[in-house]
Amino acid sequence: MNMSQRCQSLVLLVVSAISVGGCQKEESIEIDVSASVTAPERTVIAWVDAERIANADAEPENWLVHGRTNSEQRFSPLQQVNDATVNDLGLAWYVDLDTDRGQEATPIIVDGVMYSTSAWSKLQAVDAQTGVLKWQYDPEVPGIWNVRACCGVQNRGAAVWKGRVYFATLDGRLIALDAATGDLVWEVLTTDQAQSYTITGAPRIADGNIVIGNGGAEYGVRGYVTAYDLDTGEQAWRFYTVPGNPADGFEDATQEMAAATWTGEWWVDGGGGTAWDSFAYDPELNLLYIGTGNGSPWSRAIRSPGGGDNLFLASIVALNAASGEYVWHYQTVPGDTWDYTAVQHMVLADLEIDGEQRQVIMQAPKNGFYYVIDRVSGELISAENIMPVNWATHIDLESGRPVEVDGARYDETLATKKISPGAGGAHNWQPMSYSPLTGLVYIPAKQQPFIYRLNTEYERRSIGFNHGVNNWDPFDEVAELAPEFGADDQGHLLAWDPIAQEEVWRVSHSVSENGGVLSTAGNLVFQGNADGKLAAYTADSGQKLWSTNTQTGVLAPPVTYAVDGEQYVAVVVGWGAVFANASGALLNPEGDKRNISRILAYKIGGTAELPPIPVAAALPLPPADFGSESQIQAGAALYARNCLICHGAGAASGGVLPDLRHSPMSGEPSAFAQVVLEGVLEDNGMVSFAEVINADETEAIRAYVVRQANQ
Ligand code: HEC
Repeated sequence: MNMSQRCQSLVLLVVSAISVGGCQKEESIEIDVSASVTAPERTVIAWVDAERIANADAEPENWLVHGRTNSEQRFSPLQQVNDATVNDLGLAWYVDLDTDRGQEATPIIVDGVMYSTSAWSKLQAVDAQTGVLKWQYDPEVPGIWNVRACCGVQNRGAAVWKGRVYFATLDGRLIALDAATGDLVWEVLTTDQAQSYTITGAPRIADGNIVIGNGGAEYGVRGYVTAYDLDTGEQAWRFYTVPGNPADGFEDATQEMAAATWTGEWWVDGGGGTAWDSFAYDPELNLLYIGTGNGSPWSRAIRSPGGGDNLFLASIVALNAASGEYVWHYQTVPGDTWDYTAVQHMVLADLEIDGEQRQVIMQAPKNGFYYVIDRVSGELISAENIMPVNWATHIDLESGRPVEVDGARYDETLATKKISPGAGGAHNWQPMSYSPLTGLVYIPAKQQPFIYRLNTEYERRSIGFNHGVNNWDPFDEVAELAPEFGADDQGHLLAWDPIAQEEVWRVSHSVSENGGVLSTAGNLVFQGNADGKLAAYTADSGQKLWSTNTQTGVLAPPVTYAVDGEQYVAVVVGWGAVFANASGALLNPEGDKRNISRILAYKIGGTAELPPIPVAAALPLPPADFGSESQIQAGAALYARNCLICHGAGAASGGVLPDLRHSPMSGEPSAFAQVVLEGVLEDNGMVSFAEVINADETEAIRAYVVRQANQ
């Protein structure tokens, strides 16, 4: 980076009273920000443009885009923190966040300022050297959206462009803010709010546009990706990931091609295919890669009863970034029926394969395989499983298709099946990292099977999942197959050689759900885990060198940056999200998991300390058991259908949302009913369920919860 430019831009930061080591002596320079079009562009705070992003490796002190560079490798060339110095890493600062739900964001760091997001779609600008909060923007997402989001109220981050910060909200808005002040510049609604579309992913910048997808395939929506003009917020293009009702006319020939792979009346339940997390952009090819999600409902037998591949579910789709036109696709799971999304993190790299230099795109989608694909043509180069897989034997390289195991389609055999990976995937949204130095990719992998059985009485409802599979009723045969702690459920940090397609080393964790990954030129790999540890391992051999207690489970991926010659490793912490909530005791076996949401930053010699963990109040005695066996059995099924996803299997909390066994309301029929039927806690995300359950059913649920409390 040109030093004088840098100092000039930092002078503006001085004006906004943040520290700027190394450049203070020039503080008298006056810069007219309003004339930024003709003035040196970098004098504007957070001036990031295409050239700067393309040359991101020339300024490793910044983390300019979601995956640090357009390659999405999440590898940093910084090496002040390395395998020899990491032992001296200590806390430099922390920021308390004002939401107590799962945190999943990747912060962006530009010239000493960090832009991060937290649960409920809030955005923070933080002095990256001191941890002083400069401003926070709260888009005030109504609490009702909690129940429209399958998997929690998380947000995975922002994008920065020419003095503005862009991010999207759970209720479907895309927002541009002034990076210096946090003032709103523009806001567009990207979804129909009458439907259960939600946004948790970070927007990406591609060819002058800001691109955003959405989620909602558990609730019956049709997925799409939209590009908006960065300046004005005007829509540039939209690409639907699944076709609509042919009677309405197809948007283009691509939609018509996709429709030929569907049967029945798929549009009634939306079809799904939502692109809720990962994108990658290759500016030289001007291709935007989008990862698409599962079908809506999950079961193909319901969704597309005559079979078919159901394009573009579970696919990587390459689009022309300028026009949004289809270029190629690779479908990881034709006719998906297991919730095997391919929205997972995609990495671009240039690899030498069989003596040839190949431009590849790589992904470990939920389905258990690691894919290396030619990113120019979409041709499959190789695919091997990274975790135990029992739905397919292998991927046939000739056809590019998985060879399915007989009977894995539970919705055709109508048998109850324990399938690996499960709906949480062998790898989910937690980003992996590719180090060009070691040639290895570091994958937050997991063993997390799922019990599938077709819901033969499937009917679309206005509240709750519409996925078409069983609901973990403890009195049902599915309970006998439930995954066991340790035996089935385990997480691994996997170092994988993408050329040889084989494991090089692994570190195993106590439970399956852990954090995203960062690798650095200091021969280090950083990952946080469910047990509240942030750890550093050697990148070449997986030796654990350093670990610190973050006081809360970590899901988000660490990032690294430098200010004033000092390297920082930062991570947003906060336990939560769907697997933590729904799994109950499985991921919270000691009952000690909690959410303490913060941004933490570490540096060599850091001496800050976290305050002591608040002591939990003693649990009240459970209310007296009541209810007949038949009432409790009915309550268990209703609980599984309506409440489990947030309050946990067996009414045992994952540690984030209230443990109903210990809620004073569980002993008070009227208070319980006020919450469940009248929605008195709606603003906090607990909506009324009156549309789908009545007063007797509510009382049956309470009877079941109280029984669980007494066991
Ligand atoms: C989409 C997630 C979600 C679902 C599904 C859900 N809840 Fe909740 N529930 C919440 C949240 C969030 C809170 C906490 C609200 C707050 O902080 O005040 C809550 C709070 C409650 C409380 C108050 C507990 C206390 O001690 O404050 C009760 C009772 C409750 N829920 C019962 C139920 C029942 C019964 C069901 C199923 C019919 C259900 N919930 C389904 C999210 C959910």
